[in-house]
Amino acid sequence: MPVKSLPAGTRARLLTAAKKAMKHAHAPYSKFRVGAAILLSNGKIYSGCNVENASYGLTNCAERTSIFSAVAESGPKIEIRAVSVVNDQGVPCSPCGACRQVIYEFGPDATIFFQGATGPKQAHITELLPEGFRLQ
Ligand code: THU
Repeated sequence: MPVKSLPAGTRARLLTAAKKAMKHAHAPYSKFRVGAAILLSNGKIYSGCNVENASYGLTNCAERTSIFSAVAESGPKIEIRAVSVVNDQGVPCSPCGACRQVIYEFGPDATIFFQGATGPKQAHITELLPEGFRLQ
C-alpha cells in the first residue's frame, strides 16, 4: 500500500497538535514524554500524550490516548487518515506494536509520521503492521 500524501499545512497542524499534547505527558518513570495527533477523514484532529502508572504495565501510549479520546468524543465510526508522533528527546520513535494494532482498527489506510533512525519518516500502517488482525 502506498502512503497517502497530506497537504503540507495539514501535516504541520498535526505536528503542532502532537507537540502541544506532549507537554501534558505523565511520564515520571521513563522520563520519556510522547505526543501524538490523529487526523480523521472528516478533518478533525485529536491529540494525546503518554500516561504512565506506578504499575508500569498500565501505561497508555500517546497514540492510543489520542485514538481513545477521538472515539469517546466522535464515536466508533471514526476513520484515521494520518498519525503524527513526537517525543521530547528527538530520538527515533515509531508506534509500539499495541498502538499499531489500535491504529489499524480505525485506520487501515493511515499514514504514520514519526522520527526514524535517520530523520523524519512516513509509512503506511500496513508497512508497520503487516497482516493486522481484524474481526469481520
Ligand atoms: N511511548 C509512547 O507513548 N508512544 C510510543 O510510540 C512509544 C512509547 C511511551 C510509553 C512510555 O510511557 C514511554 O513512552 C517509554 O516507553
